[in-house]
Amino acid sequence: MEHEVAVGPVNLAARVDDALAVQALAFGLSEDEIAIRRHIVLRHLLCPGACALGATTPDGRLVGFVYGMPNDRTHWWSTVVEPYLRRSGSDDWLDDSFVITELHVHPAHQGRGIGRSLITTITDAAAQPRSILSAIDTESPARGLYRALGYQDLARHVLFPSAPKPYAVMGAPLPLRRG
Ligand SMILES: CC(C)(COP(=O)(O)OP(=O)(O)OC[C@H]1O[C@@H](n2cnc3c(N)ncnc32)[C@H](O)[C@@H]1OP(=O)(O)O)[C@@H](O)C(=O)NCCC(=O)NCCS
Repeated sequence: MEHEVAVGPVNLAARVDDALAVQALAFGLSEDEIAIRRHIVLRHLLCPGACALGATTPDGRLVGFVYGMPNDRTHWWSTVVEPYLRRSGSDDWLDDSFVITELHVHPAHQGRGIGRSLITTITDAAAQPRSILSAIDTESPARGLYRALGYQDLARHVLFPSAPKPYAVMGAPLPLRRG
């Protein structure tokens, strides 16, 4: 991992604006989307078992973050992906699973192992035996990273209301694959 950047616990609720600024650069978010995400992130962080890690420079700038929580079938994300997973016979992945809700690294700091460190560190601390997430269903650095860590496609062409692009839902046993 990049030498001067440290990965560790972060009070993401207190740093939500910094996190969304990173997400806006890494993933692309409009001003309207940032305002909507702000409420969603703050609500997510109150969920039981929610956990967040940040990647911080020595002068305290947040250049990456990850957060997630044990999956809850009543949560919006889970209800959207459930029919797709049921169709592929993999909806049991919604139980006893740690969901990676967001993972983003500032573009100037990408490709140096920070993303890998964030997701392996947060899942190493999870009590669940497996992890699930969704990613835009295209060949991207994110999909490459997830596959390298052992995530496999559970469903593809998953449509979230209001998201124009289809997503893939992926799952991996924990701990994530190394090396
Ligand atoms: C996905 C993301 C978080 C990865 O963070 P990162 O710090 O750049 O990733 P790392 O340097 O730890 O790279 C780890 C692995 O990712 C994969 N990867 C990284 N960049 C890649 C690229 N350009 N093409 C293909 N695979 C790539 C590789 O498997 C790499 O392992 P390697 O270095 O051993 O080859 C970052 O690219 C990002 O923020 N992307 C935009 C936002 C996003 O898509 N978030 C995920 C939403 S689901």
